[in-house]
Amino acid sequence: MNHQIALLGSGFIGRFYAASLLHFRGKDQITMVYSRHEETAQKLAQEFSIPHWTNDLTKAIQDPSIDTVIIGLPNYLHKKAALLAAQAGKAVLCTKPLATSAPEALEMLEAVEKAGVFHGYLEDLVYTPKTLKALDSVKRSALGKILWVRSRETHAGPHSDWFWTKQFSGGGAMMDMGCHCIEIARNFIGKACRPIEVTCWADTQVHPIETEDHSVGLVRYDSGAIGQFEASWAFHGGMDLRDEIVGTEGTIWLNHWLRTGFEMFTNVGSSGYVAEKAEGDTGWLFPVGDESGALGYVEMFLDMFNSMDAEKPPLETFYDGYIVNAIIDACYQAAETKKWQPVELATWRGECTTPTEIPLKEFDNQHFLIKEERMPDGRLKIILKDKTTGEISQLVKEQSY
Ligand SMILES: NC(=O)c1ccc[n+]([C@@H]2O[C@H](COP(=O)([O-])OP(=O)(O)OC[C@H]3O[C@@H](n4cnc5c(N)ncnc54)[C@H](O)[C@@H]3O)[C@@H](O)[C@H]2O)c1
Repeated sequence: MNHQIALLGSGFIGRFYAASLLHFRGKDQITMVYSRHEETAQKLAQEFSIPHWTNDLTKAIQDPSIDTVIIGLPNYLHKKAALLAAQAGKAVLCTKPLATSAPEALEMLEAVEKAGVFHGYLEDLVYTPKTLKALDSVKRSALGKILWVRSRETHAGPHSDWFWTKQFSGGGAMMDMGCHCIEIARNFIGKACRPIEVTCWADTQVHPIETEDHSVGLVRYDSGAIGQFEASWAFHGGMDLRDEIVGTEGTIWLNHWLRTGFEMFTNVGSSGYVAEKAEGDTGWLFPVGDESGALGYVEMFLDMFNSMDAEKPPLETFYDGYIVNAIIDACYQAAETKKWQPVELATWRGECTTPTEIPLKEFDNQHFLIKEERMPDGRLKIILKDKTTGEISQLVKEQSY
């Protein structure tokens, strides 16, 4: 099917979405773009040959030629746009974070489910080519049981005023970027595993704002795994996007932005723009060849529209967005109370099949194996646990030449 899309938002993300959408399947069309200011909507429309533009949100959503609404608006407007889209019977794809709080996200989820419209949560960072490949390896058990996923997004702060105002954003770095990290960890740990409780530190270290500009949190899942997120608007050096996945049988490290294999030094600079959130255009630079691809936008829209056509849910739905918002709400509470806080979920749809116990490794009839290590002098040290007494001992084997 050829979809007729209303793109709501002609800002930073609106531009990325337009660029990705129009280059992948080659058959969908953005027929309408909305912006708060008509001139900016018109500018994007002209750049991407979009035939209609408006500064009337309702008109854009209700336009009869449109079957799909993509929400790329400030966070506090996601709910309004999603509810209007659901009422109008349009498929609705919403950027991250789904909402400014879990109750708001739940309202959005209920609205799209009640209306029976297709809904997708545009969490691009689970769709980067590296992440998809890593997820595939994890699903094939290459890392064994996942124990710990650490995900970081840090940079020197966002590019528009509304992000910095709690009333419009719902929160600071944790809301803006922690949401990515939380969902990345959920994907690796397994979305069927329930987030149980969280602990979190969040503070306003640098900027004169109401929200936090730095946060670190831990999310404990019923599989026993820990998701760790690190989100900061107080980091210098560009945009640090890194994930580490640790399992009983292996490890994956992903670096998405600053060390991608493209490193350049220039005394004089070149075009000005280097890569998202780069802080200069001279000295050592880390440009990115294909930003839309590297950030996952291309694969994300491919999944969204292919799933829509196949009448099946995409990898990321409003339900996932709701879970992320619920985890963030608990993190804000934990940052206040400085205690572990339960993740309150009005609806839980998963069933974790990951065993919580890790099978012990047999060494001999009397011992379990804890670990083996080759020492610098060539000896092999074997750490054992006695099955009856529980005593830990070591066996040392000399190197044989
Ligand atoms: N990786 C990602 O998926 C990613 C990256 C950046 C932004 N986002 C999300 O996209 C959404 C928009 O962010 P952005 O970076 O495009 O913002 P932006 O400031 O660059 O653009 C905002 C757009 O919303 C419109 N708008 C309507 N009402 C507005 C209001 N009251 N105040 C400000 N703008 C208003 C503006 O006209 C503009 O078209 C946010 O939810 C943000 O979290 C997602």
